[in-house]
Amino acid sequence: MTIDELTSLGESQSSVILSKSCTLLPREGNPEPRYCDLPHGSINSMGLPNLGYQKYGEFAPLLKKYNKPYFVSVSGLSLADNIKIISDLSDIQEIAAFELNLSCPNVIGKPQVGYDFNQTRQVLGEVMRITKKPLGVKLPPYFDFAHFEEMAKILNNHKISFVSCINSLGNGLFIDADSEKAVIKPKGGFGGLGGEYVKPTALANVRKFYELLRKDIAIIGVGGIATGRDAFEFLLCGASAAQVGTAYQQQGTAVFARLEKEFAAFLEKKGCHSLDEVKGKLKTINN
Ligand code: SIN
Repeated sequence: MTIDELTSLGESQSSVILSKSCTLLPREGNPEPRYCDLPHGSINSMGLPNLGYQKYGEFAPLLKKYNKPYFVSVSGLSLADNIKIISDLSDIQEIAAFELNLSCPNVIGKPQVGYDFNQTRQVLGEVMRITKKPLGVKLPPYFDFAHFEEMAKILNNHKISFVSCINSLGNGLFIDADSEKAVIKPKGGFGGLGGEYVKPTALANVRKFYELLRKDIAIIGVGGIATGRDAFEFLLCGASAAQVGTAYQQQGTAVFARLEKEFAAFLEKKGCHSLDEVKGKLKTINN
């Protein structure tokens, strides 16, 4: 979120710097406590705290020295906000791409756009017209084949470059039986689940979209990646890259070097010489 955090990503082994999702105006976000580590992951209801989109534009030249792509995540609170943010930031050369977040479950009174197919169609129709930069979409998890198919049809009709699957699994509730309380404050304790809890759902979403999307739409796998072996599983399902949320929150930027090392070692153990040998090659059980 801050320039210090983005700088530390620049200095780390991550291959991309991805900003916190930004809105038109700065936001404090939801009241604290709004994040909690859990036995198998995390729950959060951050509510999009961020410094306002202009700051993420101003940061772009400062991050250039790290020689890695800088992606700005955009989560305007309305279509008009998304248009304004993306069109203003499109002039900034040092921004490599946008990730349009259609799936934050934590803003009170604002349902996730990715669960409203008509609205998603409209948003993409308008937003794709105003930028020449690569644009991807951060999707919520889907659970029904009909919904995967409907969303894939919409995405295939637009010149998007990537999808990020998945955002947190929205509106979980983790409680502490001793205190008889929810562990986070906003929304009566409801928040997005991340980490190990969501990995099977994330893998399923990557796999389904890999089957259904145009092959030029890359898939960024996200949800429970904490080891090189996890990253390998996402690659098998069809992901081209990995995003790390909970493990980054818990371990800091050192997580990227560890993941890279473990992933390379896992590939070597398997005797794989290129990612293409593995990407999307998940086997299923036939007899
Ligand atoms: C948040 O700020 O609430 C988390 C971001 C997201 O879930 O998209």
